[in-house]
Amino acid sequence: MTSQHDVYHFRDASDGSEWWRSAVIYQIYPRSFADASGDGVGDLRGIASRLPELQDLGVDAIWLSPFMTSPQKDAGYDVADYCDVDPIFGTLADFDALLAQAHARSIRVIVDLVPNHSSDQHLWFRQALESAPGSPERNRYIFRDGTGENGEHPPNNWESIFGGRAWTRIREKDGSPGQWYLHLFDSSQPDFDWSNEEVKAEFRRILRFWLDRGVDGFRVDVAHGLVKDQDFPDYTPNPDSASMGGEETPAPYFEQVGVHEIYRDWRLVLEEYDGDRALCGEAWVSSVDKMALWVRPDEMHQTFNFEYLLAPWEASELRSIIHRSLAAFSAVGAPGTWVLSNHDVIRHATRLSLVEESPQGSGIGPDFPDVPSHSEFLPRAHAATALMLALPGSAYLYQGEELGLDEVHDMPPEVRQDPTWFRTKGHRYGRDGCRVPIPWEAGEPAFGFNATGRSWLPQPERWRSLARDVQQGDERSTLSLYRRLLRLRKQFGMGQGTLEWAAGYPEGVVAFRNGDILVIANISASPVTIPADARVLAASMPLSGHQLEADTAVWLELQGDI
Ligand code: NOJ
Repeated sequence: MTSQHDVYHFRDASDGSEWWRSAVIYQIYPRSFADASGDGVGDLRGIASRLPELQDLGVDAIWLSPFMTSPQKDAGYDVADYCDVDPIFGTLADFDALLAQAHARSIRVIVDLVPNHSSDQHLWFRQALESAPGSPERNRYIFRDGTGENGEHPPNNWESIFGGRAWTRIREKDGSPGQWYLHLFDSSQPDFDWSNEEVKAEFRRILRFWLDRGVDGFRVDVAHGLVKDQDFPDYTPNPDSASMGGEETPAPYFEQVGVHEIYRDWRLVLEEYDGDRALCGEAWVSSVDKMALWVRPDEMHQTFNFEYLLAPWEASELRSIIHRSLAAFSAVGAPGTWVLSNHDVIRHATRLSLVEESPQGSGIGPDFPDVPSHSEFLPRAHAATALMLALPGSAYLYQGEELGLDEVHDMPPEVRQDPTWFRTKGHRYGRDGCRVPIPWEAGEPAFGFNATGRSWLPQPERWRSLARDVQQGDERSTLSLYRRLLRLRKQFGMGQGTLEWAAGYPEGVVAFRNGDILVIANISASPVTIPADARVLAASMPLSGHQLEADTAVWLELQGDI
């Protein structure tokens, strides 16, 4: 399948304006990044105070998970007012200040947009409940009569991604049992009806609100889910599939062709603005060929490569997904958008070394077998990052991965907050384990997350030795590795580069050239020999001579023809 001589070139705007094609974008989960107010939940002023550290790390942009007004039933992915800041995170003035300070440091800012559903506290949903069936207020959401003699059964059998049924019955204004509304996620997250022109107009307004403030783009939540099959057929998902989507035969509420029209419309809105604004889709679809549909030239700019994120640590699988991704994305003129971790998945440091698999979105708990320790998972975690950051295209990092943080699988059950945990009655742990506030200074309260020591999820004591200040001066630390890789990636233009597979390496090795850099990742269990006459620019773990141990990756500068 992979020809040794395939070379992939990415189009890069010669004036450098298409920043998103090669950018390293750092995801901030505002609840857990830095807490200036000291209430135990991170905030915008906290983020602003840590911009120097992000600049020092070398990222090009930040993506902020939602900080808009929200009852926080799904950690902000339940928005009550799309054009204001939730008081736990600060104010619009704090946002403007953060944006200005980030821009002053040449860090771009992407905000999260949640168009599939709102909070049940959104004015429109409250109006819908107050209004009659079939009214314009109700038609902004997906209300249907129930089935059964008295409408006592839901309209169909769809299940919520978080567990339980995807429909909730309301009481009409007169107190009688009424219609049902659809919520693909929690019952506090009613789905909008995207066939309604008013919904479309409202989101154009919301896009312009943030674009006018100066944001550089949007990460679009559940980008594959806005349009539903209008027949609302019954559907039972495959229990082994990724919970957010990704089935070979898509669910009737995911991957409907109508979604693309919405993003074409949004692209036109972004193009009204100067400054190269970008859309990045969160589309959990089953293959990179399908993912590429979201980034055709008149749609989004990026879409997360979740097939890469889900790939096992196996050389042939990695070569295959890299190869197929570059082919699929370059066919539509889009860059690769590589990612290993985010706030919905088990942190990759832990995940890549698990012996047993856990379905995406289910999380792991204290009973999960053979959860690796830090020293056990570190080599593979470092090698995976060195491999990802060497690939041409854009890459997303998730806060804390630069410290080598693991999944907190062992938190006490009573502190868990993910709706998945509650809706499945503890059957699925959910995503709290990757959302724990990150450690900055080992000797400070809450490891420097704030000054009071409060933390909405408890931080494990083992993170003290991983705090940023402990790693800062240590050349062998995870933080130093990330800094070095980001610096070299920029210096050698690898994000804008090309990929050419390198011949002559054993099956268990992923080896390629990106410009003048030879990248070799040893995914096998045996050491491999690396060229003696190339200069080592970076190694994911210390090297012994010209041997590359298992789970180690190197970046070599080619001197002559290798
Ligand atoms: C995807 C988000 O990343 C996740 O955190 C959220 O729970 C769902 N969409 C629903 O908005």
